[in-house]
Amino acid sequence: MNFTQKLYQWQDLINQSLDQCLPGPEVRPAQLHQAMRHSLQAGGKRLRPILVLAAHELFSSTRDPLPAALAIECIHTYSLIHDDLPAMDDSDLRRGLPTCHKAFDEATAILAGDALQPLAFEIISRSYSNEPSIALELVSILSRTAGSQRLVGGQMQDLLSEGMTPSEEALLFIHANKTAAMIQASLLLGFRLGSMGEDADKLQLMAQAGESLGLAFQAVDDLLDVTRSTEDLGKDASHDEASGKVTWVTHVGLEKAQALASDHTDNAARFVKEVGGGNSFLLELLSHMLKRET
Ligand code: IPE
Ligand code: IPE
Ligand code: MG
Ligand code: MG
Ligand code: MG
Repeated sequence: MNFTQKLYQWQDLINQSLDQCLPGPEVRPAQLHQAMRHSLQAGGKRLRPILVLAAHELFSSTRDPLPAALAIECIHTYSLIHDDLPAMDDSDLRRGLPTCHKAFDEATAILAGDALQPLAFEIISRSYSNEPSIALELVSILSRTAGSQRLVGGQMQDLLSEGMTPSEEALLFIHANKTAAMIQASLLLGFRLGSMGEDADKLQLMAQAGESLGLAFQAVDDLLDVTRSTEDLGKDASHDEASGKVTWVTHVGLEKAQALASDHTDNAARFVKEVGGGNSFLLELLSHMLKRET
């Protein structure tokens, strides 16, 4: 199976499994479950769960990485629903569909996002209960990543910095936390499930790979915002400038932002190679993420 076939196969697996994790659309209160399904099943590239599976593959223990992959996609999708709210980025389109608050209403979108967070932890605690120490470690990684000093903190600083003159320090804080934290956690969850022994050095290298990959990812996201159309992206394009966001594009320009994304991707690949193991899919995934067009 080549890289693309495997990528699609994993996307299908993730999509089908997410469907099974969610309460049915008729379960009371139906509006809430329909809103959760609307955002979670709209598609999306599923890159974070695929990173979990690819990082697990480095050392391929018999542990199943799929529940951890689904959990991270629940947290990610909640963060998108809330990111799109009028009080935040005020976006109308996401994953090719009206954003959750447009398709339903604001209160429903807030609650759908709220409900996706504990669902992530429920999936983990249920799925890894036969190995409590692993379950606890995954919960610890994911809860810290989603918290006030990482994902939510990055989102807060992103909003506080709107309309300000971009400083490199602020940009790095925002990108490292709102985006790189979740990419890093994806690699850490997968690695932790894949490797049987404790290996602090390798875990540290995976963390560095995740940080670099996450910085590259947000640089590319900022580039796509200015180089692609709303139709291409399935989400509101040219939105960052309109809302006065601090991005690499506004700070250093298109060409340098592209070079930065490429350097960070090279760094990530270097760290992954140092970790060793069966890394051919993961390494291709890193360059796929750099070259992506959505
Ligand atoms: C969008 O993430 C939010 C960012 C952190 C830039 P993705 O580009 O992975 O969005 P989906 O999951 O494919 O919709
Ligand atoms: C959002 O960054 C990152 C999240 C934590 C959701 P953006 O605001 O740039 O993401 P998009 O461009 O709306 O997907
Ligand atoms: Mg945002
Ligand atoms: Mg946004
Ligand atoms: Mg963006």
